[in-house]
Amino acid sequence: MEVDKKEIESDEQVVNPWEVSAKDGGKIDYDKLIDKFGCQRLDQSLIDRVQRLTSRQPHVFLRRGVFFAHRDFNEILDAYEKGDKFYLYTGRGPSSEALHLGHLIPFMFTKYLQEAFKVPLVIQLTDDEKCMWKNLSVEESQRLARENAKDIIACGFDVTKTFIFSDFDYVGGAFYKNMVKVSKCVTLNKAMGIFGFSGEDHIGKLSFPPVQAVPSFPSSFPHLFPGKDNLRCLIPCAIDQDPYFRMTRDVAPRLGYSKPALIESSFFPALQGENGKMSASDPNSAIYVTDTAKDIKNKINRYAFSGGQDSIEKHRELGANLEVDIPVKYLSFFLEDDTELEHVKKEYGEGRMLTGEVKKRLTEVLTEMVERHRRARGAVTDEMVDAFMAVRPLPSMFE
Ligand code: TYM
Repeated sequence: MEVDKKEIESDEQVVNPWEVSAKDGGKIDYDKLIDKFGCQRLDQSLIDRVQRLTSRQPHVFLRRGVFFAHRDFNEILDAYEKGDKFYLYTGRGPSSEALHLGHLIPFMFTKYLQEAFKVPLVIQLTDDEKCMWKNLSVEESQRLARENAKDIIACGFDVTKTFIFSDFDYVGGAFYKNMVKVSKCVTLNKAMGIFGFSGEDHIGKLSFPPVQAVPSFPSSFPHLFPGKDNLRCLIPCAIDQDPYFRMTRDVAPRLGYSKPALIESSFFPALQGENGKMSASDPNSAIYVTDTAKDIKNKINRYAFSGGQDSIEKHRELGANLEVDIPVKYLSFFLEDDTELEHVKKEYGEGRMLTGEVKKRLTEVLTEMVERHRRARGAVTDEMVDAFMAVRPLPSMFE
């Protein structure tokens, strides 16, 4: 069943591209979200299939259920099994200079998918979206798009298989023709229902959803996929982007196009707890890829919500409440070693390990990750950005 934002708000949990907040300061209820949005749960049999088809261990985000929902991912795998490839599409709205760790999640996962399935990838930088929503100038949005492209490239994408584009630069031609076709299929009522637009919003916002929709169609990239109009598209993203693609999937058959498939993640939570997503608008809720080792240590020690008990005696007796503990949650995203993670959960959950020790381990893991990212980003030159963003064929994209 497809739903609109008003229905989601009626039970007080709000999840849309602009707002993520749980009911009464509690946790996001992802099961409810699957039912409401009408997507499917990503179950173990699909993960096993990914392992068989790619002959490699599934990414930690799959093994640990970070990517937990999908739409038609099974169809992508069916086709792949028969030898039909697909392409990946993901994106970033360049609203700030630095990405936070939550933003890295879809890109780290997309890199794994690109390598494991050996498929091409398009990455949309929606500088137009952020210019309209965040009141940034056109020039500033474009500057941020290039800066963010460097962080994305630093995740390790293969330039021979990846096209990164900014909307301000690329929209036109075949892409624009598809936008117009999509626009004609979506009434004002429908857009208001899906996205919650009101009469007070400027018309720029109303005009945007087709821009994010059409990279789902291969004919929007004639330099990449000429004559490949049937190539399927798979979109990795967090579930906040789902409304754009509900709209896209709704209109695709009417245009004679395949519906894009999706693989969707939960949110990397704010330091303060799991009632929302890590957000760039509150610097103390987020760890940024530009944070120093000292910033990371301070933020974790000061703000990471702990499930440990108030006193050592009580902690030894009762153990930590892992359900609400942010350091353990963060480790379950970024600590690769399954055995070590299980050990921490057991020892901490049974009170033998203290919050300080878990926070120390998390600080090490995140500092190492952020340092690695900083080094990789430092090595990204303007020429490399130009190479990724050049409108060109990708001759070895399926190898
Ligand atoms: P943006 O820039 O808000 O977010 C970029 C990507 O990061 C995901 N994300 C998160 N994932 C996990 N935990 C979090 N706390 C978290 N915060 C953000 C988002 O879901 C997104 O995948 N309109 C989009 C840009 C875009 C796009 C796309 C995204 C254009 N085309 C296709 C995904 C797929 C945006 O502003 O994303």
